[in-house]
Amino acid sequence: MYRALYLVSLLSIVTCMGWSAELTVPSSAEFCGDCHRAIEEGWKQSAHSQAVESRLFQDAMKLAETDYGVSARKTCLSCHSPIAVQSGDLALIKKVSWEGITCDYCHSIRDVTLTGPNPKATVDYSLVKSGPWKDVTSPAHGTAFSAVHTSALICASCHEYRNSLGFPVLTTYSEWSKSAYGAKNQSCQSCHMDQVKGNVVDPRVQRTAEATINLHQIPGSHSMQQLEKALHAQLSATHQGGQLQIVVEITNRGAGHFVPTGSPMRQLILEVRADPYGGAQMRARRVFRRTVADAKGATIERESQAFIKGAKEISDTRIPPGVTRTETFTFQVPQGMRTQVEADFIYYYSPMATTEAQQQVKFLSLRRLVE
Ligand code: HEC
Ligand code: HEC
Ligand code: HEC
Ligand code: HEC
Ligand code: HEC
Repeated sequence: MYRALYLVSLLSIVTCMGWSAELTVPSSAEFCGDCHRAIEEGWKQSAHSQAVESRLFQDAMKLAETDYGVSARKTCLSCHSPIAVQSGDLALIKKVSWEGITCDYCHSIRDVTLTGPNPKATVDYSLVKSGPWKDVTSPAHGTAFSAVHTSALICASCHEYRNSLGFPVLTTYSEWSKSAYGAKNQSCQSCHMDQVKGNVVDPRVQRTAEATINLHQIPGSHSMQQLEKALHAQLSATHQGGQLQIVVEITNRGAGHFVPTGSPMRQLILEVRADPYGGAQMRARRVFRRTVADAKGATIERESQAFIKGAKEISDTRIPPGVTRTETFTFQVPQGMRTQVEADFIYYYSPMATTEAQQQVKFLSLRRLVE
């Protein structure tokens, strides 16, 4: 009774505010944001909302199309804008196609299966939006409880990928499922979608009991906080017989998958410098990455090639979850010469980046003075 009255009053508010307009499917984030304002604000800051708009992606897709033909475009958009592919808008004419991985894609997912070569999402664009809750009602759309929304499966549909050559290009989901986090079923959401303060629905539309929302920024390697959470590092140095030995211990303590994970273009770089007082600076670096080659054995240097032509793995020096790596560096420094030792960790995004910020970020530095 109470609920029914409540709904009637809600509907009248909705009508007054002009939402009586037909809900079109798939609809733009802007429409959802009229009510789910705080969630839309968060999503706008996510990599998902930039997945088509980003210069980096546009450049890479253009190059893929030039090199491998128009079918490449469909491959790229199948993850970067699944709505564009499913609605036949490969030319990206509709606004919603430019929204990349948008509300109505994720909330039209009903199920994800792992039986085929790639995880596959069942998507049903309709007036019903699926989500993590049972028994909620909305004046704008139907609601349906969906178990996959609280599980890693919903992320698997794009964060795990074998290309048409059968080569595993993205392995984030399987790295996770084989880890201790996967064994405990500690979902991607538990690290990437924290519960934060916020209104699920704008209070002007409806007051809901829930004052928390799931963080739709879904921060990853573009977040300083996440990068710092991922690694723990220690620096030690000894100086004996004219040899300065530097040891850096690095543990992947906070990521539920390898560091780095995802695109094979990502790298974690450890750069070590020794500055002897009165001597010349010495440097060395170690790179943690996956090196991938095409079928002829040529190393792949760009995202535009990796997704389509990746065919074999040359090496993999990334750090699995929970694992500690010990890296040792030796420099010749005369005994008795004081030396400043520094270790920097750099996360490298993409060789196709056109700005420094888009290319890499330094996120952790350790230093020590050695006598
Ligand atoms: C007119 C306001 C309004 C609009 C527009 C709107 N919603 Fe909602 N939505 C609600 C309300 C109210 C609830 C229920 C919230 C509650 O009870 O706490 C809800 C609940 C939801 C849920 C939870 C469902 C569940 O079972 O877990 C999802 C997901 C959702 N909306 C997605 C969307 C998406 C996607 C769009 C855009 C296509 C959208 N909403 C547009 C008002 C709206
Ligand atoms: C990458 C997929 C994805 C996108 C894009 C996305 N969501 Fe969600 N959303 C989720 C998942 C997953 C949950 C459930 C998280 C959980 O319970 O652990 C969720 C939860 C929700 C809920 C329930 C309340 C809450 O915070 O848990 C609402 C409402 C909602 N989303 C609306 C939206 C709207 C509106 C947009 C666009 C502005 C959007 N979502 C974009 C995946 C997505
Ligand atoms: C429809 C495909 C799709 C789904 C579903 C999806 N993602 Fe993504 N995700 C992407 C793409 C594409 C990018 C890269 C966007 C870009 O930078 O161009 C991305 C980027 C990311 C990033 C990187 C953010 C950063 O800082 O660079 C994280 C973290 C992430 N996704 C986590 C998740 C999680 C967790 C889920 C499940 C709740 C999920 N994704 C579901 C396609 C998807
Ligand atoms: C225990 C916490 C934890 C869990 C569980 C977890 N992640 Fe992450 N994830 C992190 C941290 C911390 C980072 C930042 C370090 C990095 O980028 O490697 C990160 C980074 C990422 C990135 C950015 C990589 C890039 O190339 O930019 C993606 C994508 C991602 N996670 C997806 C996922 C998916 C999908 C799952 C579930 C299958 C998942 N994560 C589970 C903690 C976690
Ligand atoms: C199976 C889904 C999938 C397909 C297919 C796919 N991508 Fe992606 N792409 C992702 C995900 C997920 C990321 C997020 C980063 C990560 O995990 O490292 C990403 C990241 C990227 C990035 C880096 C963006 C950044 O902000 O650093 C570029 C560039 C890119 N993809 C281009 C392409 C191109 C070009 C194609 C087609 C040839 C393509 N992608 C096909 C899922 C996909």
